Amino acid sequence: MSGRTLIVNGLIVTATDAYQADILIEQERIALIGTDLADTVEADHVVDASGKYVLPGGIDVHTHLELYSWDTVSADDFYTGHVAAAFGGTTCHIDFANQVKGESLQQALEAWHARAEGKAVIDYGFHVSITDPRDDVLAEMARLPEWGVTSVKLFLAYKGVYQLSDGDFFRVCRRAAELGLLPIVHAENGDVIDILVREALAQGHTAPVWHARTRPPEAEAEATQRAIWLAEMAGSPVYIVHLTQRDALAAVSAARARGRPVYAETCVQYLFFTVEDLERPNFEGAKWVCSPPFRTDADREALWRGLARGDLSVVATDHCPFNFATQKVLGRDRFDKIPNGVPAIEDRLIMLYHAGVHEGRLSLHRFVEVTSTNPAKLFGLYPRKGTVAVGSDADLVIWDPGARHVRRAETHHMNVDYNLWEGWEVVGRPEKVFSRGRLIVDGERFLGTPGSGRYVHRRAPLLSP
Ligand code: URP
Ligand code: ZN
Ligand code: ZN
Repeated sequence: MSGRTLIVNGLIVTATDAYQADILIEQERIALIGTDLADTVEADHVVDASGKYVLPGGIDVHTHLELYSWDTVSADDFYTGHVAAAFGGTTCHIDFANQVKGESLQQALEAWHARAEGKAVIDYGFHVSITDPRDDVLAEMARLPEWGVTSVKLFLAYKGVYQLSDGDFFRVCRRAAELGLLPIVHAENGDVIDILVREALAQGHTAPVWHARTRPPEAEAEATQRAIWLAEMAGSPVYIVHLTQRDALAAVSAARARGRPVYAETCVQYLFFTVEDLERPNFEGAKWVCSPPFRTDADREALWRGLARGDLSVVATDHCPFNFATQKVLGRDRFDKIPNGVPAIEDRLIMLYHAGVHEGRLSLHRFVEVTSTNPAKLFGLYPRKGTVAVGSDADLVIWDPGARHVRRAETHHMNVDYNLWEGWEVVGRPEKVFSRGRLIVDGERFLGTPGSGRYVHRRAPLLSP
């Protein structure tokens, strides 16, 4: 579908407004919003959105496509992951270009650009993960904005692989502050986890649930609190990725109450599952192995409250899928060999809408805000993306609020052999998805073309959410 497209009779929903109007799409952007546009403008295609919502496309700022780790590779690449994202109403994502020690940041980014080349169907950007903060790397950080990268990922976990010392964390945050970059942090105490894992293995514990037992909630609470103070000393903002736990959330809330530029994301799956899922029999618990681990019902409830109240700014996925039959089984005899990560890129909007909006935990505006608008603001994409406005990219989702369907691995589009929500009946789903004006999903049909997704040069973070 190219040329001029007119979407008529939909209810346009943004983070702040909901109103009935028509949208004219021209040259990849929203050209006009108004009433009765069919009477005054000519269009090549007219799409009737009666009874549907028209939302800004979802933006998932935490994904790992084609990530080589745990002696294997995450099961979705930049084609299959993008197709799945599109079927879930996500039209833009930000993946992580991980620096290998010894490499430059430019080399890390080149490696990730190569993964997306010729495959992308939706638009994408990169964070760069700094694992080797040599002096020349700190100098090189000045070039990130010209490469469209305005956030740097830092790890306080994964000892011996990605983890930074407190001193290095502080140095990178101070440099980020000078350059207007947003440091984003995996906050778990890697030193403590390393000891607990070795002790558990020595005591003969091998089952998946030991993944959670060796990554206790205090390890996340402590590292979150530490990251906040280290960033404060460095004079930088900080964004905590995949927050799972109520004490970590309390640390974020307290910092925000002090007026600090502290932001946090949770991931959709942490709103639904607990450590008990890691105890499922026949090694099935391995499907739920990810870091940080799933927690308790009290933590889930705290996350829902944090989302509604505003202390959690973003819902992402940390999409990092591994097939159960061929990849999760690498850890059948040792929990620490189970590839860490879960699939969720296709489920994020669907599950958050169902349990959030349909079941009354979140307003429709807040749903749009945490899945699209805030991600766009914090990661330098707004207002080009993250809203429905004249001049914005026509990344749009026509959402059917009444559609009932069942989540199943058999019918999902992620390249992985299980779905965390297998058999759940849910309400609400994308009906049509537009990427810069191109209709890429129409019901069950995929209409996108590999290579049509574009790298997005991100601007400075807008630190308001
Ligand atoms: O289990 C996870 N989260 N795998 C991906 C890497 C990370 O820590 O985000
Ligand atoms: Zn992480
Ligand atoms: Zn991650």
